[in-house]
Amino acid sequence: MKLPIVAYGDPVLRRKAEDIPNTYPDLTQLISNMFETMYNAHGVGLAAPQIGLSVRLFIIDATPFADDEPVLKQFKKVFINAEILGESGDKWLFNEGCLSIPDIREDISRHQNVTISYYDENWNHYEETYSGLAARVIQHEYDHIEGKLFTDKLSPLRKAMLKSRLDSISKGNIKVDYKMKYPAAKSFKSGSNKKR
Ligand code: NI
Repeated sequence: MKLPIVAYGDPVLRRKAEDIPNTYPDLTQLISNMFETMYNAHGVGLAAPQIGLSVRLFIIDATPFADDEPVLKQFKKVFINAEILGESGDKWLFNEGCLSIPDIREDISRHQNVTISYYDENWNHYEETYSGLAARVIQHEYDHIEGKLFTDKLSPLRKAMLKSRLDSISKGNIKVDYKMKYPAAKSFKSGSNKKR
């Protein structure tokens, strides 16, 4: 089942998310719904706050980046109760986007490597280090469960320049081809505004 994606401005995107207990109900179904929602929106990552749940869960399928980095051919993963243990390496710029902030893409600076502790969907525990694009997608999704967005990392000037576009997204005054939930829509507005 496809779920509506929460748009920029919703308070759930600003909350530090809570750990998931291993008794969390219907977790398998939730993860499956999140993958369906992400693929439908052509994303490579989706975090639970983006579907309105303030829990420490995000999913990644970075296989579309495999042309650039062959190591990503198998990079489809679920991260539960993740904690970043450290970041290292030079910072580098990459043009990021976010399903909660449609049509805005900005060059964002992050460290090359990330070491992360997490559980997978079968509650196996891992501590792993990732580099390059894999690290990049993890860092972006991890920010979501910490209540952060990539736009936070922009300069004050760049943020000021984007303000009216971000306000439009919160109000739902955008065209997007997947279902979204807008925090500042005047009338209840949920559903896809198809470009056709
Ligand atoms: Ni995002």
